[in-house]
Amino acid sequence: MGKGFVLGIVVGILLLVGCVYLYFSWGMAPVATSAKPMPFERKLAKTGLQAYLDKLPHPQPLVPADEPNLIAGAKVYKEQCATCHGLPGEPKSVVSKGMFPAPPELFHGIGVTDDEPWETYWKVENGIRMTGMPGFKGQLSEKEIWQVTMLVKNADKITEAVKKELLAGNSTPMAMAMDDMGSAPAKGTKPAKQTKPTKK
Ligand code: HEC
Repeated sequence: MGKGFVLGIVVGILLLVGCVYLYFSWGMAPVATSAKPMPFERKLAKTGLQAYLDKLPHPQPLVPADEPNLIAGAKVYKEQCATCHGLPGEPKSVVSKGMFPAPPELFHGIGVTDDEPWETYWKVENGIRMTGMPGFKGQLSEKEIWQVTMLVKNADKITEAVKKELLAGNSTPMAMAMDDMGSAPAKGTKPAKQTKPTKK
């Protein structure tokens, strides 16, 4: 192995790093949610996530998938997840249509019914970096995360009572945003106008 060979490798690596740098610094990398994905973006992200998850312990669910737990999960879901992941029989929300990567619809098609519960639990607890999927650690209790996990795991076989809970009340993104601010107009009604303007 001569000096030339080593030099060749070093130059090759520097060229590669340089090209990647230029790709970003010349503004060629996609930044808008509507832009085309970067080459291999999805593949690399999925492979990285899966390889990481495989190294983790795989805990058993803390709660069974019975009706009380699924109803509790439905309460969490409609408040925290529906804006992005949708509801059974409802059209996709405006928010979810503007996201990249798009949040999968968890009550349409397979959703995550084919994933192991520990995997979904981990994703809900920790979020998925640079995707818009939030981590709920510290915001939802362990039990609540398991309940919502069991709900989406069984999304294809929920009972009428669970479905009713999911669809009851304010689940439109706007109503939910209003709800977060402390005033929740009933679904279908216009938000009340501010009657008393604050005087100085
Ligand atoms: C602000 C939008 C948003 C909210 C709110 C949100 N998610 Fe997500 N979620 C996403 C996005 C985007 C992805 C896709 C990530 C990806 O492509 O890797 C995702 C992915 C997931 C996945 C993995 C899906 C798969 O196919 O592997 C699960 C499970 C999930 N979310 C469950 C939930 C639950 C449960 C909640 C509520 C407690 C929730 N999410 C709240 C945006 C959101």
